[in-house]
Amino acid sequence: MSTDRPEKRFLRATVVSNVSIAPLYYRLKLEFNDESAKALSRVVPGQFIEIELSRLSLPPFKAIPENLLDSAQRQIILRRPFSFSDITVYGDLRVCAEVLFCALGPGTLRMTTLSKGDELGIIGPLGNGFSVPKGKTLALLIAGGMGAPPLQYLAGYLRSNKPEMELAAFAGAKSVGDLPFIVKGSELEEFSRFGIETHIATDDGSAGFKGFITEYVTDWFKKRCPPALDTIIYSCGPEAMLAAVAKLAKENNIDCQISMERMMACGIGICQSCAVEVKVAGQSCSEYKLCCKDGPVFESKDVVFE
Ligand SMILES: Cc1cc2nc3c(=O)[nH]c(=O)nc-3n(C[C@H](O)[C@H](O)[C@H](O)COP(=O)(O)OP(=O)(O)OC[C@H]3O[C@@H](n4cnc5c(N)ncnc54)[C@H](O)[C@@H]3O)c2cc1C
Ligand code: FES
Repeated sequence: MSTDRPEKRFLRATVVSNVSIAPLYYRLKLEFNDESAKALSRVVPGQFIEIELSRLSLPPFKAIPENLLDSAQRQIILRRPFSFSDITVYGDLRVCAEVLFCALGPGTLRMTTLSKGDELGIIGPLGNGFSVPKGKTLALLIAGGMGAPPLQYLAGYLRSNKPEMELAAFAGAKSVGDLPFIVKGSELEEFSRFGIETHIATDDGSAGFKGFITEYVTDWFKKRCPPALDTIIYSCGPEAMLAAVAKLAKENNIDCQISMERMMACGIGICQSCAVEVKVAGQSCSEYKLCCKDGPVFESKDVVFE
């Protein structure tokens, strides 16, 4: 992947479709044209955008889950960050992108009302994104809950740009309804359509292995013994899961990139609200980096987990 980062800009997007794939989960398809498309033509998986949502209306009262009725009324001042779950570039002047989102607060509830032809103001592309170090022949993609979108994009990206690489996808969630994918038996359609082997774990055993996905991957490692130098792990999900993935990577001496989530106010490195504690190379002390600017992707060995 290119390390030549595209410059962030104010972008305009038009909604192509906004489809509910499960209660509270939506696939939002956006089209970018002209200068906005140019800005996104070299985006890489793991980079993100900040979407302006303050002018959108709430869905009808009866469509708002009871536990969100209070928070839904909150005014939206700040843009909200989202990763891409897919991007298709049609030359320099048209880009189609997909955002997979979960409605869990005032901004994302308003996003459920978006429909074909609506326009959105966006800042992006932001952050660094995943990279592929030389010599890697096996990539393990480990997603937890809503950490799935950037890994879905990464899977398609690696299939197109590194076709020789072997890929395996692992996805965990509390229950089958919390997996933001089309689940077909033991397969996740979004990965298996690229011929990628998929593995599922749910806390309640409603699909796949009963337990945490990190427990499942630990067993998988024991059986498969992936070659340390040739393998890379990419992961995104809740922080506790990322800490477990980082530990697993360290124990097996495997390179690992994790996409961290932080509450983000500005998204462009000004407000300092998204600090991530990282180790200073060769020293015993740590320092803070900005998730929005230096991340969201970090080497797992660098991150200090509590
Ligand atoms: C780099 C990045 C990429 C993201 N990509 C996606 C994506 O592809 N799809 C998606 O559905 N969501 C994604 N998110 C999370 C998304 O930004 C939040 O869900 C959204 O901002 C919630 O806005 P809201 O107004 O609906 O709810 P809020 O009221 O802002 O939040 C609702 C609840 O979610 C928690 N929350 C909100 N943002 C975060 C966060 N960043 N980290 C941890 N907890 C949070 C809040 O504490 C609160 O409990 C991403 C976040 C980051 C930082
Ligand atoms: S969100 Fe403001 S500095 Fe990162």
